[in-house]
This record gives sequence, C-alpha cells and structure tokens, in this order.
Amino acid sequence: MKVAILGFGTVGVGVYEMLENCAGLEPGPVLVRPGKEDKPFKVSSMEAIVNDPEVYAVAEVMGGIEPANSYVAMALEAGKHVVTSNKALVAAHGIELAELARRKGVSFLFSAACGGGVPFLHNLAIAAQSDKILSLGGILNGTTNFMLDAMQAEGKDYGDVLKQAQALGYAEADPTADVSGLDALRKIMLACAVAYDKLPVDGFSREGIESITAADVADFQARGLTCRLITSGGPAGASVYAYVEPVLFPANAPECSVVKNFNMAKYNGENAGAIVLLGQGAGRYPTASAVVRDLCGLGSLEMFRPACVKVRANNAGCVHPYYVRVDADKAGRFSFRECRADGDSVRGVVEPIAVPQMHKLANDIRQEGGSIFFAAVEA
Ligand code: HSE
Repeated sequence: MKVAILGFGTVGVGVYEMLENCAGLEPGPVLVRPGKEDKPFKVSSMEAIVNDPEVYAVAEVMGGIEPANSYVAMALEAGKHVVTSNKALVAAHGIELAELARRKGVSFLFSAACGGGVPFLHNLAIAAQSDKILSLGGILNGTTNFMLDAMQAEGKDYGDVLKQAQALGYAEADPTADVSGLDALRKIMLACAVAYDKLPVDGFSREGIESITAADVADFQARGLTCRLITSGGPAGASVYAYVEPVLFPANAPECSVVKNFNMAKYNGENAGAIVLLGQGAGRYPTASAVVRDLCGLGSLEMFRPACVKVRANNAGCVHPYYVRVDADKAGRFSFRECRADGDSVRGVVEPIAVPQMHKLANDIRQEGGSIFFAAVEA
C-alpha cells in the first residue's frame, strides 16, 4: 500500500527510506515545492496525491500550519488516512482534523508530534481508555536536553550547542520554538488532549532555557543539581494544568541520566503506577520511526476522541520552591530561603510559590528591562 509523503526534509527523507524496507507499505509520491521535482517520485501538486487511487495514506512531515492544514484536510476529505509529526498543526487544528477523519472513516494519528521516537502518545491513548491518568509530562524536547547536557557535562557555550543541535537535525526550522519552551508546550498540550480529552489552548505558563548563563550552570552544579527542561500536565478540576519550565534535580534523580537528544516521557496511572519511556526525542530516524509506527497501526487507535474539547489551563494549584538569579534591585520581590550576592545579582532558593505567580514575576521583571533566570527545585 502506497504512502504519499508531504515534505522531503529531515523527517521526510527518513520516512521515505524506512518505507522502502517496510513490509506491507511502500513510498508513494512525495510532495515538494514547485521547481524541486528532480526525481520521478516527486510531485508539486496536492491534487495529484489526493486523486491517486493507489495512495492509501498520507504522511505530513512538512511542518508549519499552512499549507499543511489545508493539505491534511484535502487528504482526509479524499478518504486517505493521515499521520503527521507536526505538533504546531495538531495543537492548532487537531480537534477539527480528527473530527473530519472520523466522518470519513479514516485515521488521524500524530505520535511523532510528541517525543520523537518515544511511543508516548501511542501508549497514553491506550492507557487513557483503561486507567485514570493522574499526571504526565517529563522531558519532551530533544534540542534543549542536548544543549543543557552539553553545557553541564562539557562546559560548552549556549550558542555553540544550539548550532550543533541544529546541524544534527534536532531543532525546529526556527529553533526559538525549542529554546523558548514552545515546542515542549505544544507536546504537553497534545498529551493532555489524548489523556484527558481536554486540549489546553491558553492559560499556560511557559519558560524556556534562553536566560541560562554559564554562571548559572556553575552555581547549580556546585549545589549538586542538574537542570532539565520539564513539561508537566494533569487534571485540575474541570480543566487541566499544563506548563513548561526548567527544573533542577538532585544527582540521584532519573532525569539527570537523560543525556543528548533523549526524551523521558512519563505518566502516572492510578492502576499502572509510574510509567517511564526513554528514547531519542528528536532527529531524522527516531522521528521517522514514530511516523511509520503510526502508519503500521492505522485503524486501530484514536488519539483525539470525540469528547475532546478546548480548555483554558489552570496552573494555580501547582506550587514549587524555585532557584532564582535576579538583579539585586529586584530581589526584594522574592521571599528567599537562602541567597547570596553575585556581582549585580542575587541568587538562591525562594520559598514555594505558585507556578503562574513565579512566571508572572519573571515576565514583569523582564518587561522592566531586568534580568532573571529561574528553575523549579525538585526535592
Ligand atoms: N525540535 C524537536 C525537539 C524535534 O528538539 O524535540 C522533535 O519533536
């Protein structure tokens, strides 16, 4: 059965190669930009794909919201199954696309949009049918994990490790999405939708790793702590909590051993207990493997169920102590448990504070032109 591929970049090439060696499936036409049809299998017309009766499914790996959204809708309308790695698309239009797929009796799956090669959404979708998911999240961005690991383990510079992550094909086309936490946020949005039938679309708290300095790394390493960018989600009354922020872990925490481009996706089931999935979260073949895995399971799984609705996230009940480095003249806004002066800054650990409150304090300070780094402290 033929699978058309939309996009022939890092992931598209990987999907094509995997399909050449996949029992029961084979690569079909590949959609590229006009003028780039340098091989017979490359086409630049979406109509040619949707009108091809031999095309059974479409793998959308082009990224971005448009024209990906229109093309996916065209494929579903034409009765083709669709698998995508595009988290921006699924976060923005996934509920509507899943509804269209349901009407047409085809699948719309997106494992590769969350966790790269780690089969997180796939397992979560199955677990959510039989168990109560108490919480979920973990390390869901390979680029920032690679960067933090290299900065901490090898003392490398932020700019250098970002370039390296881009060269290795881990980062998004615009790596701001990775370092700002937006990519990880989209992934936790999708995980909440799959687990709770609630897609949080606003009310988030999001902090990436853009503010981290070599001095911050040196200081929390001296404290025996390791930084990771962590996503957190779970039920919150009629809504869900969903946020992304750096977290500092003690040396014995499993997160400290998650290195390079790896992800560590977690959920906690009422009956299953804690489930941890570890694997490469970014890169050509890990991500392509998730796309092909979905293609092999078409018809047997639903990721966005009919009950799925959009909600406003509610993080007010999530409270942590935080490590804070802030301009000395702003330090009075925090209730430090312990702190020390460091040049023009003050650094230390503040008393537990609600996630939205911490993020708002940081945003206010930045809007005033001030400088701050913060990370939750895991006991
Ligand atoms: N840019 C993403 C990451 C790719 O680094 O995790 C995989 O979703």
